[in-house]
Amino acid sequence: MTSAVRLAGVSVRLADTDVLHDVDLVLDARTVAVVGDNGSGKSTLARLIGGLVRPSAGRVEVLGLDTVRDAAALRRRTAIVFSNPDAQIVMPTVAEDVAFSLRADRLSRPERHMRVAVALERFGLAGLADRPAYELSGGQKQLLALCGAFVRRPDLVIADEPTAFLDGRNAHVVSGHLLADAGHRLVVVTHDLDLAARCDVAVRMREGRIAQVGAAADVVAAHSASWRC
Ligand SMILES: Nc1ncnc2c1ncn2[C@@H]1O[C@H](COP(=O)(O)OP(=O)(O)O)[C@@H](O)[C@H]1O
Ligand SMILES: [Mg+2]
Repeated sequence: MTSAVRLAGVSVRLADTDVLHDVDLVLDARTVAVVGDNGSGKSTLARLIGGLVRPSAGRVEVLGLDTVRDAAALRRRTAIVFSNPDAQIVMPTVAEDVAFSLRADRLSRPERHMRVAVALERFGLAGLADRPAYELSGGQKQLLALCGAFVRRPDLVIADEPTAFLDGRNAHVVSGHLLADAGHRLVVVTHDLDLAARCDVAVRMREGRIAQVGAAADVVAAHSASWRC
């Protein structure tokens, strides 16, 4: 059976550093959190799943696609969200920035307009459509980044610390959008244990290896206990 994410014997070596060591991992849950200390390999795992990093050894299959051989097909079906919304905004206005995400889709102008309008509405940005994107607050900018990710109707959203720069209220709003069942799967790297615990399954990483995989609440509890002992 095709799993959403399957890593078999995967190692990653970047520059002179062994970052991931012989990782085997199968994930089928709709929402998956990745937790672990700084430098444990979470971002590398996320980038590997998104096809941005190649395995040095082993195979990575995501949505039934080999991340190296089928990289272009994988890119069409996934969207990646990072912490820093400023680095993700590329166009002058809010609506133009969302429309830019659809540049590779062959849509008519009215279709593109409609897709953008529906997405802006969903993320509470409709009233800001013609505003310069740089004028938005940090929370609004991250909602814009999510809007640009979701407007493409991805099958898998990969988010690397998407709430790191947000206050509690905005973190909660962003988490709600990521977790809502909109027909996508989610892999989210996070130190936000509230967000992690709301996922179905969590993976805990330690020193480039998988330390634990299980129900998110159990893994989050073990992770927070690990620095209290
Ligand atoms: N491009 C790179 N070149 C060399 N070492 C790297 C590179 N990217 C990450 N690393 C190292 O790999 C380890 C894991 O990094 P990372 O995946 O970013 O961890 P995390 O996201 O859990 O903080 C760290 O020790 C980091 O310094
Ligand atoms: Mg990281």
